[in-house]
Amino acid sequence: QPTLAGLAERHGRYFGSATDNPELSDSAYTRVLGGEFDMITPGNGMKWYATEPQQGVFDWTAGDQIVDLARSNRQRVRAHTLVWHSQLPDWLTSRQWTASELRAVLKKHITTEVRHYRGKVYSWDVVNEAFNEDGSYRDTLWYRTLGPGYIADALRWAHRADPHARLYLNDYNIEATGPKSDAYYRLAKDLKAAGVPLDGIGFQAHLALQYGYPTTLEDNLRRFSRLGLDTALTEVDVRMQLPATAEKLAEQATWYRDVTAACLAVRRCVGVTIWDYTDKYSWIPAVFPGEGAALPWDEELRPKPAYQALREAL
Ligand code: XIL
Repeated sequence: QPTLAGLAERHGRYFGSATDNPELSDSAYTRVLGGEFDMITPGNGMKWYATEPQQGVFDWTAGDQIVDLARSNRQRVRAHTLVWHSQLPDWLTSRQWTASELRAVLKKHITTEVRHYRGKVYSWDVVNEAFNEDGSYRDTLWYRTLGPGYIADALRWAHRADPHARLYLNDYNIEATGPKSDAYYRLAKDLKAAGVPLDGIGFQAHLALQYGYPTTLEDNLRRFSRLGLDTALTEVDVRMQLPATAEKLAEQATWYRDVTAACLAVRRCVGVTIWDYTDKYSWIPAVFPGEGAALPWDEELRPKPAYQALREAL
């Protein structure tokens, strides 16, 4: 039977999974990872703490391992992420920077990392999680020191370093329309009008059954398409309060089906990536105590109802 990737390809889309370096020694895990998906995102390996652990000292070990594995499986890579407030190395967060110092640090980081992966990745999540829930700019090291212009600068530097990579802004809780999603809409419009190299908006889609389904997702994707942008679902998972019951898993399956159908319904929604594929390696239990069972394969790597629902949607 065809894989999720094979089914997605019939629609001209991809179906991807995140992965992380420690899991790659699990051969039952890598068998499915290599077979079922055609796009891979490194869950941590390309973040700042991993790639520039000391100022000016770059380490590509983790990112390269994933790029090489993807290449050997003939998968593309959504690279993640260049500018974020989280998982930064201590040297960056433990001192004060002037604007001109920090601008130089950011430019060098982006230029060096994007150059290293030039020609090897499909896209970059250039800026991750730039806005608060109310649509104001998140108060990060970048925003505080450089002001909102850091976003356009980051996109321009990334574009110069790899003119063929598709450049994205990426965030969570923007699946439904609302203040946060509207902030991206306005920013994207402004950036396009100013000729800034922005290619797409990534909707993380870390969903939770207890918060309700984002029913405006399809319309929301469509309005970004109309700006001339690609969209993608970049980190999908659907968590629930544990224990998982048959009823909750059935509800979860309909959510996986519906988010996938929403993407397929919108021209320029280029693909769907789940934030790893098995509950064995999901980030959810560590970060949301009491929650989990968020992915389409269970902890024993057995497909759940969500997996069948994905196949039906595709
Ligand atoms: C998560 C990783 O999966 C975890 O292993 C890590 O401990 C924390 O970060 N939004 C993002 C991702 O953009 O980078 C995050 O990944 C999940 C939330």
